[in-house]
Amino acid sequence: MDCSSNSWSAALVDQIGVGVIILNMGLRIQYWNPFISHCSGKPLEQARHQLLTDIFPEADTPRFSQMVVQARDHGQHVYTQWRDNPYLIQLPYKPSRESADLMLQSTLLLPFLDAKGEQCLALLLYDTTELARSNEQLDAALNALSGKQTEQDQLIKKLEKANALLLQSEKLAAIGQLAAGVAHEINNPIGYVFSNLKTLASYVHDLLRISDAVDSAADLDELRQLKRSLEYDYIRGDVEALIGESEDGIERVKKIITALKDFSHVEEDAFRFAELHPGLETTLNMVNNELKYKAEIIKEYGQLPAVECIPSQINQVLMNLLINAAHAIEQFGRITLRSGHQDDWVWLEVEDNGVGIAPHVLNRIYEPFFTTKPVGRGTGLGLSLSYNIVQKHHGRIDVSSKPGQGTIFRIWLPIRQPGTASDGSALT
Ligand SMILES: Nc1ncnc2c1ncn2[C@@H]1O[C@H](COP(=O)(O)OP(=O)(O)OP(=O)(O)O)[C@@H](O)[C@H]1O
Ligand SMILES: [Mg+2]
Repeated sequence: MDCSSNSWSAALVDQIGVGVIILNMGLRIQYWNPFISHCSGKPLEQARHQLLTDIFPEADTPRFSQMVVQARDHGQHVYTQWRDNPYLIQLPYKPSRESADLMLQSTLLLPFLDAKGEQCLALLLYDTTELARSNEQLDAALNALSGKQTEQDQLIKKLEKANALLLQSEKLAAIGQLAAGVAHEINNPIGYVFSNLKTLASYVHDLLRISDAVDSAADLDELRQLKRSLEYDYIRGDVEALIGESEDGIERVKKIITALKDFSHVEEDAFRFAELHPGLETTLNMVNNELKYKAEIIKEYGQLPAVECIPSQINQVLMNLLINAAHAIEQFGRITLRSGHQDDWVWLEVEDNGVGIAPHVLNRIYEPFFTTKPVGRGTGLGLSLSYNIVQKHHGRIDVSSKPGQGTIFRIWLPIRQPGTASDGSALT
């Protein structure tokens, strides 16, 4: 048995499923292996010593000339891939199946020294059809995936838009609902300021009569008589009381209007550092009409730093919690507001001693449109929107409730939003 490396390599070249063409430096064919004869249908004997481009005219391209320059003159190995159409040499590909496809070939052109030490070029043509096919499948899968991704991105955008609209409309509905309460709140002080004004007008009329009488009265006794008959001393005391009361009334109206203005920052949707307690007070003022007949309000506030938030949205969450608490109280109860600060977080708590939430309802309360209230009373959006707002602030809502005893909602908010530098500017 001939065990020289030459005979092994000759046997290998004869049997391998890779096309091997040996060229001399003048690009004349010296040898090709049976794979080439088989695939091209051309016998080696007729091709030997012919120019490669005479036998395979399709190889006569600038690209091939360039490859030759790289391999022959610069000693490089030059690859082409199945992606580089057209193929260098067209070998009809006939694998075991019936297809007459061209093989999706890759090629390698390299210089080497033959057994006699002469410089030659080897052109290897190999079949990468399967690789190319799986690559195509991979490409198709990737395309489909990126299509899905775009679809998903669009869907998320739509959802965000719908969510923003929902938020806006819930806010408008809440403001509408509050407007009625606010009208009632304003009506009261305006009512007594108006009636005070009427009384004051009649007092002024009487006082003017007394001062006019200074000119016409015969003597001081007549003047004193008139003062007594018009109850001057009473008027004097009452005028001060009426003015003080009216000032209080106007002050109350002013407070409500300021709260309304603070609350209805509809356009505001940027994060900024804000104190939470004034926002809570504003919100309390807004919902005072809903609360005052239902509960005593107890405040147990801690020390809070300024928190990076969208204040109008936090107010909206607080309003939802306060109104829910009031609705949960059947007769007259207690609502306790607490706040605190722990590490990088602050929390705000609304506790009521109302009906509580049944355990089977507890895991549904954040669902949009989930309500246990009669038709027309609740939309079931309050907590779902509150949840969204708190999520947007990278915080969380905790709830604990005992049926028949009451409920505690606690909102946790990070003092600083992630991705913000310590000076409050956004990090990119
Ligand atoms: N403090 C609470 N005590 C008892 N049950 C509550 C309390 N807060 C919320 N719930 C329950 O959770 C449900 C959902 O609350 P949510 O605020 O989302 O909607 P709603 O109050 O019913 O309607 P909306 O707030 O849209 O007017 C309520 O219907 C109620 O059953
Ligand atoms: Mg609600």
